[in-house]
Amino acid sequence: EQIEKNGYDHFMLKEIYEQPSAIVDTYRGRMLVDQGLIRMAGVDDNLTKFLNAKRIIIVACGTSWHAGLVAEYIFEDFARIPVEVEYASEFRYRNPVINQDDIVIAISQSGETADTMAAIKLAKEKGAFVFGVCNVVGSSISRETHAGAYTHAGPEIGVASTKAFTTQITVLSLIALKLAKEKGSISNSDFHLYLRELDLIPSKIEEALKSNEHITGVASEYKDASNFLYLGRGFNFPVALEGALKLKEISYIHAEGYPAAEMKHGPIALIDEMMPVVVIATRKGHYEKVISNIQEIKSRNGKIIGIVTEGDQEVRELADYVIEVPETVEAFTPLLTTIPLQLLSYHIALMLGKNVDQPRNLAKSVTVE
Ligand code: G6P
Repeated sequence: EQIEKNGYDHFMLKEIYEQPSAIVDTYRGRMLVDQGLIRMAGVDDNLTKFLNAKRIIIVACGTSWHAGLVAEYIFEDFARIPVEVEYASEFRYRNPVINQDDIVIAISQSGETADTMAAIKLAKEKGAFVFGVCNVVGSSISRETHAGAYTHAGPEIGVASTKAFTTQITVLSLIALKLAKEKGSISNSDFHLYLRELDLIPSKIEEALKSNEHITGVASEYKDASNFLYLGRGFNFPVALEGALKLKEISYIHAEGYPAAEMKHGPIALIDEMMPVVVIATRKGHYEKVISNIQEIKSRNGKIIGIVTEGDQEVRELADYVIEVPETVEAFTPLLTTIPLQLLSYHIALMLGKNVDQPRNLAKSVTVE
């Protein structure tokens, strides 16, 4: 096991650090930046279906569901296709309206999650085309779907999902960009810009990982809190959900993720000097609005940990701590803002003496319903 951890103390940490290379493995051979091309067999072979789709329904559980939420923003923005994101467990137990021109995308790291599998079977019965985004090659879900794309993240051992999440977002971004190009819903120059930006993400994650030591300090400051709030807007709302989930899973600290603007409809009542609030406040994406959320937290004495764009000054003046990530286009910020949140939960759990790789009561793949 020590050998498998490759010098890291835990699989989770190793997997966090593997994200730059995992993402390269995800897009290698698929994204041809110089030629301005995206090639994905599962999509290419079914291109008409994708282009004629009236709607995409994403089904998943846990962290994969969060990747689906990020994909909703990306698909709608790039490809102008309406997207619904469903918990597989809810979808399968209602009587969902599915049409033959719907595409169902099932996202699953393990490819074995029972609820996601059941949702796929239901969608197939109703005549939908089902596309899988799995990590484990040859897994049940990858076999059950009509077509798919693997994330190629390599084995993920830590129960709390990290590199699976960012590589799922990468695959889904590639699909959205490909469809956007085919449909002409983004300009050629934007398409090229996005390819170049996606290509730069691995080195920008390397950059973001350099905050590890600084994040250790933030973790030691707040590790004894009983509650955490995570806020984000737009593309980064799902990242807030994912950040909160990571903390809950491995540190057992209660954490809630919320769209920043919804704070005033409830969570603001919880804010006092005991409440650390992690706010994703990158310069792209409702920056001024998020700043006013931060001011509201500050005036109630909440503790603010801002996830900001490199060089940011405005949030720095208001926050107790800031953690910087490099700049990128708004749609790809989740691939960067996620990194400090993974590290923060890792260090807090570690300091609290929790079993980071195998948290209590959780399983890596949930094959029961
Ligand atoms: C379990 C794991 C999570 C994972 C979820 C969905 O709850 O602990 O990390 O996100 O299942 O798993 P899947 O393999 O379908 O992505």
